[in-house]
Amino acid sequence: TPATQIRNFCIIAHIDHGKSTLADRMLQITGVVSDRDMRAQYLDRMDIERERGITIKSQAVRMPWQSETETFALNMIDTPGHVDFTYEVSRSLAACEGAILLVDAAQGIEAQTLANLYLALENDLHIIPVLNKIDLPAADPEKFSKELASLIGGKPEDVLRVSGKTGEGVEDLLDRIVEQIPAPKGDPEAPARAMIFDSVYDTYRGVVTYVRMVDGTLSPRERIQMMSTRAVHDLLEIGVSSPEPIPTDGLGVGEVGYLITGVKDVRQSKVGDTVTTARGSASEALAGYTDPKPMVFSGVYPIDGSDYAELREALDKLKLSDASLQYEPETSVALGFGFRCGFLGLLHLEIITERLSREFGLDLITTAPSVIYEVTTDTGEMVIVTNPSEYPDGRVASVAEPMVKTAILLPKDYVGAVMELCQSRRGALLGMEYFSEERVELRYLMPLGEIVFDFFDHLKSKTQGYASLDYEPAGVQTADLVKVDVLLQGDKVDAFSAIVHRDKAYAYGVLMTERLRKLIPRQGFEVPIQAAIGARIIARETIRALRKDVLAKCYGGDISRKRKLLEKQKEGKKRMKMVGRVEVPQEAFIAALSGD
Ligand code: GTP
Repeated sequence: TPATQIRNFCIIAHIDHGKSTLADRMLQITGVVSDRDMRAQYLDRMDIERERGITIKSQAVRMPWQSETETFALNMIDTPGHVDFTYEVSRSLAACEGAILLVDAAQGIEAQTLANLYLALENDLHIIPVLNKIDLPAADPEKFSKELASLIGGKPEDVLRVSGKTGEGVEDLLDRIVEQIPAPKGDPEAPARAMIFDSVYDTYRGVVTYVRMVDGTLSPRERIQMMSTRAVHDLLEIGVSSPEPIPTDGLGVGEVGYLITGVKDVRQSKVGDTVTTARGSASEALAGYTDPKPMVFSGVYPIDGSDYAELREALDKLKLSDASLQYEPETSVALGFGFRCGFLGLLHLEIITERLSREFGLDLITTAPSVIYEVTTDTGEMVIVTNPSEYPDGRVASVAEPMVKTAILLPKDYVGAVMELCQSRRGALLGMEYFSEERVELRYLMPLGEIVFDFFDHLKSKTQGYASLDYEPAGVQTADLVKVDVLLQGDKVDAFSAIVHRDKAYAYGVLMTERLRKLIPRQGFEVPIQAAIGARIIARETIRALRKDVLAKCYGGDISRKRKLLEKQKEGKKRMKMVGRVEVPQEAFIAALSGD
């Protein structure tokens, strides 16, 4: 297809505003998926995506659309809508010339609407404003057309109104895409350059790489080269998704399609990288490649220690399809052998741990999420700490923690409660703006460490679910942080160590010691549970000793009852961990770490 007849676009929206449903209608109306084959959220392939109704990996699909005179090829690139996956969103946007800004007509603008809009504007995309779900009785298109128009600087009349559910307005939208979104530009004679905007691992086909051709052409059976690593691969198949893969005799300027090279690991085909041909290769990579960096770390341990090898295999498998997942072996006194894993954010953490348990049948325990601390020691050395138990106690000169700029959108009635919450999380107010009479945006500079720990849950409960949150990294800042340890009979329980602000250390210590006192059964001796900063004890609880005569009751009596009791104890012992002399049931750790 000549570039003049190609339109590349994406749909950007806040979570749940109906992007996937609209995409489904477009597939149906353009005829690429028959009514019979249609199923909800056609493009969301992972089970977990379908169940949670969220899009994790983006996909591209080509659809024909007829104007009065010509047939156009529309390439729709589905993007994930969640904060953790901003990097993937930005790569998908870079593959497009235009974006549909989709807003729920009953909800209005939300935090991710803005975050995604700003990313689209940074990529110079033409924006088509659209209100969705106009079939809903609660829809208020008049009001939200104004809101949307004032946001992007247009006229309320120009805001299209559609329903992804009924299909109303979708044909007009397709026409508007052809009229307004610019055709791709590129040099057909130049050496080939294609940008990778997605890379998916497929059990049968290996890695499927989705690309947007910028210059030149790629043909089947060519040798291609990845510009970041200079690695060369044989091209086994090249084609377009519509939405099932259709091999073609090549891809030209502006086209969007897939490549299959037989590589088995997405790390060899990284999102953001530039593909060129091995002979006559391009000299300059396309801008924009960065490795996504994990922001949140957590220890992942099998509940049953003998599952360790299986856990490693499962992580290796997940890594094939998710280059941003990081992990390395780690041991814990309390939890045994496991892995320290790095995630892009909390949702990413949840998705990975859920996939581990669902797809691989593993029972896991994850430790409290931690961020990356930059510790400068008294000798001037810089230590990167992602696991609180590796904190260089007693040698710390200063600590810097990662900061984020958060944007919270909420109805104005909740402003007081949310400000209080943000302040309690050491937030510094950067600004406040009214989007309409009721909707306010609050911007705070906050430590990421305060957000990864149940901030979102608190935000939702304080606003009855009406607030939305987005954040972006904003450097590091020094803070008065300390490590709090928890000790059982004088022995440190590493899984409970946490790096917290000095003002909160006491509260953390009290909480953990209380929890453990309730969870650990009494032993033959007294067990003190202490929380400490360095050598200084800040909280203490005691588990009183068990009376010696518990078993004695059985002696001389019913022998089978006694045997039963002993057998039961043996069973229980298997799941006990020894911390010093103290026997702690695994369940106690799990319960203490998972909160209330
Ligand atoms: P993410 O992929 O998580 O970002 O969500 P999404 O934006 O793709 O939203 P999705 O298409 O999953 O729709 C969210 C919910 O809104 C679903 O329950 C849909 O059935 C519903 N929905 C989507 N479009 C419409 C619409 O036009 N009208 C009505 N009434 N409901 C809709």
